[in-house]
Amino acid sequence: MFILFLSKFFILKTVAIFGSGNGSNAENIYNYFLSSSDVKIVFFCTNNKNAFIVNRAEKLNIPVLFTNKDHMRKNSGIQKELKNYKVDYIILAGFLLKIPNNIISLYPKKIINIHPSLLPKYGGKGMYGLNVHAAVLKNKELESGITIHFVNEYYDEGEIILQKKCFISKEETINSLDKKIRFLELSFFPKTIEKIIFS
Ligand code: GRF
Repeated sequence: MFILFLSKFFILKTVAIFGSGNGSNAENIYNYFLSSSDVKIVFFCTNNKNAFIVNRAEKLNIPVLFTNKDHMRKNSGIQKELKNYKVDYIILAGFLLKIPNNIISLYPKKIINIHPSLLPKYGGKGMYGLNVHAAVLKNKELESGITIHFVNEYYDEGEIILQKKCFISKEETINSLDKKIRFLELSFFPKTIEKIIFS
């Protein structure tokens, strides 16, 4: 019993980060766990060969894997890589493809996404990046924020782990709101992942 309790804390947990764009969250999470002996980021994965996350992976000297819709569905595709690298947790940081059910069922409560709004508002298909902020401002919302949640088979509908709010000023623009949201993302995403891994 005692050994089981200890093993929860001392067995290395491996994490893969999926992203389709800039990769600022991916790099931030990578750096957060860099000196950790409990958590290791084993690869970045993207569906977009031209995304800046690829440059970041090269700079950080971490493997970057490429995937697409078909590759994610096949047992011989990304699923095989997740197995080869013994991945325990998948982090979605701006990953635009839907995670297929074959992967979701292998990782119950072990796939975590970040969304740049206060879900359930401004979630779902097409709601990503600056589109989200544009819709929030168009509706004259007084606040926005981030949502960190588990991923299930429906877009942006998995159980919410954490939300953090920011206020919207009268002069707010899409870019200024994006800065506020990014600040929240960089501040809260890595430590929330850590909490989940060790909860
Ligand atoms: C973030 O705003 C995140 O909330 C959303 O996509 C964006 C990714 O940004 N899901 P980056 O690629 O981490 O810079």
